Amino acid sequence: MGFFDLFRRHPNTINERLVESPMRDNWYQASAYWPSPFALITTVSDDGQTNIGPYQLTFPFEVITGRSFIVCSRQNSNTDRHIKRAKVCALNYVEFDKSRIKKIVRLGYPGQTTAEKMVDNPYTLIDSPTPDRKFDGKRFPHIIKEAFQVFECVWDESQPIRDDGKTPEYFVLRIERILMKETWAQNLADGVKRLPKVPLAYGFRDASKFWFAAHKKPFWLPIPTDKGPQEEAILYEANRLDPDNVQFTRDACKKLTGIPKPFVKTALKGIIKRAKEDGISLVDVDYIDKLNAERDG
Ligand SMILES: Cc1cc2nc3c(=O)[nH]c(=O)nc-3n(C[C@H](O)[C@H](O)[C@H](O)COP(=O)(O)O)c2cc1C
Repeated sequence: MGFFDLFRRHPNTINERLVESPMRDNWYQASAYWPSPFALITTVSDDGQTNIGPYQLTFPFEVITGRSFIVCSRQNSNTDRHIKRAKVCALNYVEFDKSRIKKIVRLGYPGQTTAEKMVDNPYTLIDSPTPDRKFDGKRFPHIIKEAFQVFECVWDESQPIRDDGKTPEYFVLRIERILMKETWAQNLADGVKRLPKVPLAYGFRDASKFWFAAHKKPFWLPIPTDKGPQEEAILYEANRLDPDNVQFTRDACKKLTGIPKPFVKTALKGIIKRAKEDGISLVDVDYIDKLNAERDG
């Protein structure tokens, strides 16, 4: 970096040579840059209080038909112990709010009991709207009122990944329910118009700082229509309209590629409605042919 680069808003490094970053412990924070969202995990403590632990290492794991998260936690954190005991937790995701982020750092400071750290909790704890998930002081924690989405999870003990006493604990958390504020749920159902302001964590650095960022206004780009099979977009749309009841085969979607784009969703909804009336859960070529024959005949 040259002298004048110090005055640039952001260094331009494109023409710099690559050097090796030393492999330090906790490499993703100490040897690299890795921004991501983080979950505020609520669990019930041994003395019956809801505990909030911030966890950046939470990733979608099984995503197609299975629905799970993977969580990496240091050994013996409150969250680690509580999940092992109660087998359940909730992953709460909040929107960006700088004043509350300051307190998130305090909730993420190791070595505190639930009672000690929750004195400083900036969030409102409420019961889950799920009838059998109300806070009970034993298994089911509160959730965070300010969260725009909450994943209610159970620990999938059948998938222990590694627990050798040295590495962090790995949990596979099966998602039982995704709860979402009405506006955001509607936004997903109607076709996404906006996105929540999710705070990003850049991790703990220099033994003294936890870095965060807010993202700019999200934007979208159309997917290429001149690449790949024509039916891909239709298949994607078709199989997410009513995934629990009606699915489409790829070949069935190939038959629908002639429908003008603005009408595809309406056409798919019509087919799904009809399939349900007919007790059909998989729309295949024969079924599309049958509907076409009816319409044409
Ligand atoms: C934003 C943020 C993200 C964090 N992510 C993780 C993580 O992914 N894994 C981890 O073990 N600790 C992480 N920490 C540190 C934990 O929050 C810390 O160990 C804390 O004591 C956990 O709370 P608990 O003991 O109540 O579970 C993070 C801290 C902050 C502030």
